[in-house]
Amino acid sequence: MALILGIESSCDESAAAVTEGPHEVLASIVATQDELHQPYAGVVPEIASRAHLQRVPMVVDQALQQAGCTLQDLDAIAVGHAPGLIGSLLVGVSAAKTLAWSIDRPLLGVHHLLAHVHAPALNDVPIEFPAIGLLASGGHTAILSQTDPLHANRLGRTIDDAVGEAFDKAAITLGLGWPGGPAVEKLAADGDPSAVKLPIASLDGPDLNCSFSGLKTALLYATRGQPEGRGRHATFPRTAEDLTHQARADLAASFQHAAIEALIRALDQACVRVNARSLVGGGGVLANTLLRQRLEELADRHDVTLRLPPQRFCIDNAAMIAGLGAHMLAAGRTSGLDLQALARMPVEA
Ligand code: KG4
Ligand code: ZN
Repeated sequence: MALILGIESSCDESAAAVTEGPHEVLASIVATQDELHQPYAGVVPEIASRAHLQRVPMVVDQALQQAGCTLQDLDAIAVGHAPGLIGSLLVGVSAAKTLAWSIDRPLLGVHHLLAHVHAPALNDVPIEFPAIGLLASGGHTAILSQTDPLHANRLGRTIDDAVGEAFDKAAITLGLGWPGGPAVEKLAADGDPSAVKLPIASLDGPDLNCSFSGLKTALLYATRGQPEGRGRHATFPRTAEDLTHQARADLAASFQHAAIEALIRALDQACVRVNARSLVGGGGVLANTLLRQRLEELADRHDVTLRLPPQRFCIDNAAMIAGLGAHMLAAGRTSGLDLQALARMPVEA
């Protein structure tokens, strides 16, 4: 089996990994940057790319060491080259090109989102296709249909905020920290999901799209009351701190329920349309326990096999990049040294 080094730097995680073929993870190192972005309650692109410059060489060294191999042992270098923050992607892509050139091995340009839905197959059996994939992270929310690991059609996406971003903004509204998902989930555990009626957007049309911006605004008003004035000049009668713990927990639980229900409804439609054998999840939001429970119920209802990665492969990591890279190498889909980092790239490309 081919030995692949994977590099990931699309957002705020600097990661490197070594896999043997598409499935076996020999090493996976992830350096998160949460502490650098925490003061800004969101990822600051310039800070992210500067941190990648310092950390990518470090994680590559650590991954090779953990895998017990040298650069010369590698058969190819895979890198997440799209989509993502352009300044961040450029660091990983430049590093991967340099390494591939220096050892004269093929370079593999991996689509970050396809890599996320490959993640459940890491250290595990192959995914059975056709598959429906849910991608739910801080930057992306999409529903994919796949016939093999290298090809996907997008059945739907969010038309505004990504679901993870909605969790992060809900956390700000509720006076919690960043990243918001885990904080909202923790607070929601004390609350009643039916306490506050918040909108679950189901959009008509051929695409299975969802929307989270109306939900975000509804939560803001439910928490802080109806504003006077508009936009930046709006003033609210109260803040989250004026509410009791129970009231805030009820709001968190109601928000979590509405956000997850929107995804489940769209996926339910996807399962009706596509005669799939597997339902696959990827992205940081898949850490959410309620989402995982609701996906289990959905998979049971449609008689499909649910494949969810463990937490360390849900978040951005390079093992998913190396693993999918192995499939690309086997299919002869190598890239030249002119491989471009792209902020946007359709999953169908
Ligand atoms: O995939 P990821 O680690 O990074 C990218 O966005 O690429 O996803 C991070 C997102 C954040 O928005 C975070 O709030 C959300 O995943 N998240 C969660 C949970 N844990 C992380 N959302 C809901 N519930 C969680 N337990
Ligand atoms: Zn990601």
